[in-house]
Amino acid sequence: MDATVKTNPTVITIFGGSGDLTKRKLIPALYNLYLDHWLNKDFRIICTGRSAISDEVFIKGLKEALDQFSRRGKAKKNEWEAFAKNIEYQRADFTQPAFYNFLNKEIKTFTDRVDCAVNKIFYLAVPPQFFETIASRIGEAGLAADRQHSRLVIEKPFGVDLESAKKLNKSLLSIFDETQLYRIDHYLGKETVQNILAFRFANALFEPTWNRNYIDHIQITVAEKIGIEDRGGYYEQSGIIRDMIQNHLLQLVCLIAMEPPVSFNANEVRNKKVDVLHAIRKIKREEVHDFAVRGQYSEGWMEGEKVKGYTEEKDVAPNSTTPTFAAIKFYIDNWRWSGVPFYIRSGKRMQQSISVITIEFKPVPHQSFPAEALDNWQPNRMVLNLQPDMGIRVRFQAKKPGLQMELNPVDMLFNYNDTYASTGTPEGYETLLLDVIEGDATLFMRADQVEAAWELIMPILSTWEANPSVNFPNYTAGSYGPEGAEALIAKDGHNWIVMPFEKNHHE
Ligand code: BG6
Repeated sequence: MDATVKTNPTVITIFGGSGDLTKRKLIPALYNLYLDHWLNKDFRIICTGRSAISDEVFIKGLKEALDQFSRRGKAKKNEWEAFAKNIEYQRADFTQPAFYNFLNKEIKTFTDRVDCAVNKIFYLAVPPQFFETIASRIGEAGLAADRQHSRLVIEKPFGVDLESAKKLNKSLLSIFDETQLYRIDHYLGKETVQNILAFRFANALFEPTWNRNYIDHIQITVAEKIGIEDRGGYYEQSGIIRDMIQNHLLQLVCLIAMEPPVSFNANEVRNKKVDVLHAIRKIKREEVHDFAVRGQYSEGWMEGEKVKGYTEEKDVAPNSTTPTFAAIKFYIDNWRWSGVPFYIRSGKRMQQSISVITIEFKPVPHQSFPAEALDNWQPNRMVLNLQPDMGIRVRFQAKKPGLQMELNPVDMLFNYNDTYASTGTPEGYETLLLDVIEGDATLFMRADQVEAAWELIMPILSTWEANPSVNFPNYTAGSYGPEGAEALIAKDGHNWIVMPFEKNHHE
């Protein structure tokens, strides 16, 4: 869709401008916003980093990455050149005030030229140890003072535990107002993730059954085929809990479990989400082994290729006990969800890349059909496929054609790619960057949300860190994770469900 909204002239400063995120995600996202006329014709992108690169080489590198990573594929020469003339690269030590004096001047010249309110967006695509310093420098230079138009975007990880997240919040909030802070969780920008809200709150059909009276349990799987790639240094400090569970998976739980918001106002939606985090039952340290399972991959074969085990990866300690897989069972102690287990799992080097939410309904209260009709009977199931397949499947029982009454599960399927052209689907970063430009924080993490999420997972983190696993590695690359994860769900009489996304697939 082309823009109907007018955005202000904008200056975006990307700290960590020569890094991977800028090339793979941020510039392609801004370019697509530009092509779809969401960006004001007056915009400027200042990328800063420590590497010495000429503007020319820098822009060439951006173009090569864009051709590879943009959803639209290769850029057209004239369109790219018109866009790229607004980008510059500044080699700078962004811990020093000099760079901020330069920024101040640049922004002032730009503002004088356009002669109206200018969005000043500071994007922190740098390692977290620089967050506070950059924010302080921005504040000292007076660049945070425009409460309405100065915005700070922060990539994860937001803290490494509850204490550090609180400290970081405190320090950022001494410079910026909460309304100026955009803590990114890129999962919230995904179309299919936003669609959870539309699916739940724009339809009268599902909401009446969306509770403990009808739902037996909920499963969320975010599995990745990739290993840790070249991020060993980061991953050793982070592991699966900090990398995926504290943010992406808990956000999915919030969207599935939240109460209907009164309006789509940023604070209203975020209030409803944080209510879920507060209602999730805290797992006591002595119960962690009953509720959470960890794993680490060993070498294995994936698609005919031998892949390394975690401890053989670059920058990983040979005796590392960092988990690359976790499965956790949560309960949400409120009226809607009392007694309904939520099982979540995520891991690297899993058999397939798939993000999927399965809602399994309770059996009918009374079976009217004779036993011989029920051989293939299954509970109703709703499956939200987030990626790579995008769609929703509702499984229900139907009569199998024939002379006798025999029940058989069948599917109703909504497939994005059948309904919408796939290149028209914006990437998560497009949605999120446009929201920052428009000043809409609905899809971003508020300070209290981040802290509530840390609070929840701290008992698991601290128990695991105090008691390193003695059986790692415990799953083979290319499998579905450790056996313990199967046992976690099997002891409640369930199993992990991953249904391929084709029509009327039956297990
Ligand atoms: C990132 C994690 O936040 O999300 C990565 O740091 C992970 O480890 C990635 O691979 C997954 O994102 P997506 O969009 O590919 O599902």
